[in-house]
Formats: sequence, structure tokens, C-alpha cells
Amino acid sequence: MVEWLSQRNLLPSPDVVARAAAHPDGLGWLERSLQALEGERLFLGLGDLVPEPIEPRPVVHAATGELPPVIIRRQIERTRADGKLQSYVALFNDRFRTLSRLVRRDSAMRDATGLRQLEQEGEHSVVGMVAEVRPLPGGRVRVVLEDPDSRLAVMFSEPEEGSLDIFPDEVIGVSGRLSRRGDLLFVNGPVIRPHQGRLREPGRAEEPWTALFISDLHIGSGTFQRAAWDRFVAWLNGDVDYNQEWIPRPGYLVLAGDVVDGIDSYPNQETDLEITDVWEQYAVLQRELEKLPTDIQVIVLPGNHDAVRLMEPQLPLPARVQERFPPGVVFTANPALLDLAGVSVLCYHGKSFDDLVSLCDLTYDKPILMMKELLLRRHLAPVYGGKTLLAPEDQDHMLIREMPDILVTGHVHSCGVEPYHATLLLNPGTWQSQTDFQRMMGFQPDPNRAIAVNLQSFETQVLDFNR
Ligand SMILES: [Fe+2]
Ligand SMILES: [Fe+2]
Repeated sequence: MVEWLSQRNLLPSPDVVARAAAHPDGLGWLERSLQALEGERLFLGLGDLVPEPIEPRPVVHAATGELPPVIIRRQIERTRADGKLQSYVALFNDRFRTLSRLVRRDSAMRDATGLRQLEQEGEHSVVGMVAEVRPLPGGRVRVVLEDPDSRLAVMFSEPEEGSLDIFPDEVIGVSGRLSRRGDLLFVNGPVIRPHQGRLREPGRAEEPWTALFISDLHIGSGTFQRAAWDRFVAWLNGDVDYNQEWIPRPGYLVLAGDVVDGIDSYPNQETDLEITDVWEQYAVLQRELEKLPTDIQVIVLPGNHDAVRLMEPQLPLPARVQERFPPGVVFTANPALLDLAGVSVLCYHGKSFDDLVSLCDLTYDKPILMMKELLLRRHLAPVYGGKTLLAPEDQDHMLIREMPDILVTGHVHSCGVEPYHATLLLNPGTWQSQTDFQRMMGFQPDPNRAIAVNLQSFETQVLDFNR
């Protein structure tokens, strides 16, 4: 390998040699990585390697009866995070490579160059990751773009209010005129974001299977809504005269994270807990799921209150939790891309909303607006270095590599449903009443709701179990 690389005038770091040597197709991997390199190189580091494996293996879980199986099309399988700085470089290189390719699909960006190739005055189109956003007096905004080779400052003059909404770390394309000194690009066109892939065939089930979505149960919390939850369980069993046509029998029930309240999720949480042992909290969830009819296929993903690492992507709940549950409950990572009866469902708990609320005019009570911002940037956690911790995996599992038919999130405890282009956006809410912290912040949750979707017609229904 060292010889093969030296023939190409490249010096690999010892890490690269070790990783490629341990890979079943090391040379092939190096070759793919060299093809993706932009510009001349002398040294080759871990960050220059393209992620592998390129295509995940789908995992198929058999469902009960005639219901099509749950297919996990994409999720983190095992962690490769080693905490090294180089691994963060690999993570961000994957993000940049994937998103810049999507930006370049816009016809205005077809001739876009790398940032360091800008030399002479005149018109240029460039693609970069946003390293810095600084509003200046007079309505101008100065943004520093970055790519693997260089940095460039770009200036937006008097954009209309809110028309820019540039997030740190998102990947954008801009066109403009380079200053005489070559160190500033005066933007004179719109911000180009990653292509949305709008022309795809929407996935629809062949039969009118129902998928039901809930999130943020927070079992174990003193504010868990036991009475409403019992009504929900009774309804699923056919014992409540209310919208019975929406009971998923057979069908899917997706729990979009924060299934328990956890322990040590925030300072002094003990005082808010009814169950102070996290394993006992899961045991309660297990007993609740055992009350459901067996033809309801349950899928559980973790959230920031669950017993997994806080860094995203999060792995599925640990074996000691999983093994106690009824057979057939599917535990996924967070995020996870599922295929339910031919419909692609991207599930993400939504921790990154905590970073979005401080930007633009986004608020916790309008989750749909935040979900649109994620799709627009083709990334589930576009802002790095704030409240959403990212693990230094060698590929970016938070990328929205393909536009889903359904995007479901949770975390913000408010309810919303809306179609957006070819994607149905869902945020079902919570099963916890207002906490002291939310009261202090003036936030009113929408508890005790489930959102049902007919996977064939895409008709939706918000089901309310408050009374
Ligand atoms: Fe939550
Ligand atoms: Fe959460």
C-alpha cells in the first residue's frame, strides 16, 4: 500500500496504513478515496479516506401476520468513534463531500470551484461550509466559507430581512464578484442549498396499512400522563369508542425517543421522578407494551433521556433493556431510516432543535418549521458545537442522504403535521404534562396525542387522548 501510494506521490500517515491494511478491500478503498480528493496532496490522513462501507446492509425484522416486515435501511451499526481529532475531520469531510455534491446539482453551481482556486477578479461561484456568520451594520452579512483546502470571506449586501438564515456549519453555494485583492467575494445571487431531489417517485404501501407515531413518553417522570396513556392502551385494544378505523391492527407503532425520563438528564431531576431507577422505568414500558395486541408492530428509537450515549448518532437501547421486551419489538438507532410497507420513514428524536431555536425566528411550539430547515440543509443536526453532541464517527450518519416519504421527530413536546414537498412531516408531541422548567420558560406542551398515517393514501389523523 505504501508503495502504491508513493507511486502516486502520496505519503500516508501510519493511521491510514493501519486502517487500510485491516480493510478487506484496502487498496480499493484507497483508490476510491483518492478519486474523491480535491486538489494536490502530499500527505494522506485519516480524514482523506471516504467513509466505508458505502452502502449499509438493510436489516429485516419479520412482522406479525400479513403486515410487511420492518426494514431498517440505514442506521449506525456499531460505533467507530475513537475520540481522535482526525476522526472529526473524517466526519466533516463526509458531510462536506456529500452536501457539496448536492449543492453542485443546481445549474447555477455547475462551474463552482474550490475556494483556493479563486485568483483573478471577476465572477465566481463557490461552494463551502459556513465557518462564521457575522451581521454587520447596514444590514450586510459577512460569512466565512471553508472547504478542505481554504477559506474565503463572502459579503451579502442588504439582504431582505430573514432571507438569508444561514446556519453555522451548513454547506452552501454562492456566486459573486471577487474583490481586487482576492480576499472577499461580493455575493450577487441567491444562496444555493443542497438539491432537494423533488422528482422522485413517492413510496406508497400497496394496502392501507396504518402507522401510528408517538414520542416522548417520559415514563418514570412524576408528570407522566398515566390516565391518558391508559386510555390510549385501551383504545389500541378496541375498548374505546373513538376513531377506531385508525387503530393499527395490524399496523406499526413508532416511539420516537425519550421513551423513559431517565436519570441525571438535567440537574436535580430526582425531585421530578416517580421512578428513580432507569431500568425500572424500562420495565414499566415493557409491561405497558405487553398490554398491546400482538398484531401491532412496535418500533422504539432512543432520545436524549434514554439509557444510551448522548452523542449522536445514538445506538439502539442496550441488550439488557431489549431482552426483556416482547419478541418482535424492533429497537433502532437514532436516527434510523426505515422502510414500512414500501414507505421510507426517517426517524430522528430531534435534539438538534435545541440549537435551531436560537437561530432565525424558530420556536419550540412550531416543530414543523424546524423540520423544514433540516430538510432544506439535508442534515439532521446542521449546527455543530452547541447543544447537540456529535460522535466522531468515520461517516456522517446525520446526513439526509435521500429525501424520505415521512420524517418523524419528537423532543420539543409540541404536535405538528404537515406535508412539505414530497415529505410528510410529523412531530407527535409527548405524554408528559408541563414540567416546572417548561412553566418557567412559558412553554405549553401538547400532551397525549398520536398521529396516524394511512401508508397507502397518506391521509393523516391527529388522535387526542386527553379525555
Ligand atoms: Fe422529551
Ligand atoms: Fe428529547
